[in-house]
Amino acid sequence: MTARSEHEGVAPAGLPETVRPGGTAAPSEAVLSARDVRVSYGGVSAVDGMDLSVAAGQAVGLIGPNGAGKSSFLAALGGQVKITSGAVSLRGEDVSRMPVHQRARRGMIRTFQMTSEFAGMTTFENLVTAGHGARGASLTAALLRPRETGRRDRAIARHAWDVLDRFEMTGIANAYGRELSGGQRRLVEIMRCLMCSPTVLLLDEPMVGVAPHLVAKLITDLKSIRDDKIALIIVEHALEVVRELCDHVVVMALGRPIATGSYEDVVSDREVQAAYLG
Ligand SMILES: Nc1ncnc2c1ncn2[C@@H]1O[C@H](COP(=O)(O)OP(=O)(O)OP(=O)(O)O)[C@@H](O)[C@H]1O
Ligand SMILES: [Mg+2]
Repeated sequence: MTARSEHEGVAPAGLPETVRPGGTAAPSEAVLSARDVRVSYGGVSAVDGMDLSVAAGQAVGLIGPNGAGKSSFLAALGGQVKITSGAVSLRGEDVSRMPVHQRARRGMIRTFQMTSEFAGMTTFENLVTAGHGARGASLTAALLRPRETGRRDRAIARHAWDVLDRFEMTGIANAYGRELSGGQRRLVEIMRCLMCSPTVLLLDEPMVGVAPHLVAKLITDLKSIRDDKIALIIVEHALEVVRELCDHVVVMALGRPIATGSYEDVVSDREVQAAYLG
């Protein structure tokens, strides 16, 4: 079976009904779906008609040469950049015009940027801060309802310990962000996302800066997140990671999908090879 171009529009024979050439889950099963999404910067097109739908527990890899528009598309899904046309919906609700925090409240989380604030906090503090952000904690609520706030603080702290435990990271709970290795930082970023109880996790090059011996651990951790029925969309240049992790791969070039299918299908596609060779 060869990779299908987007315009073919027919489910390849032998694939389950839920997996279609857009990337992709049947509309009724999709937690996230994007239709004909376009992004331009000052009139210059970066994303030029992307379709994608992803079901719970599915990991979709987004690959393509530098400047293809992968990060812009991810940011369009997360709400960090505005779309010029098209639509993004989350569990059937149109979120196309919603700001980032409202999409996040609905479960669509893009990995946090590494900020100086992160570096100055311990891992535990980082997780707890993310947990408070996700629940919209406010000072007014804390003053008006101290008992409820105390209960919530304890629940968030418990959640943070559970997440640390699950990823065997309790040993770095009290380490400051600035003391962590590249791989540990990536893991903290992902754990922070989990504090927000995501339904869709958007990851942009999660393996950058990760030492080779930690790559396998990170892949295992991402698989376990996927197996928890969280939908993953991963932009990654490290193709072995995509091969290991992703049920489905979408190849982008010049803002458009040029092939979709299994990893093996897309890498053997001639159009894809040409796009990579430039
Ligand atoms: N903030 C911005 N302002 C103007 N142009 C931008 C901006 N961000 C990206 N671009 C341009 O949009 C196009 C797509 O960029 P994008 O970063 O989305 O690609 P990418 O596939 O993620 O590339 P890479 O693999 O190098 O990360 C490129 O031509 C890039 O120069
Ligand atoms: Mg990018």
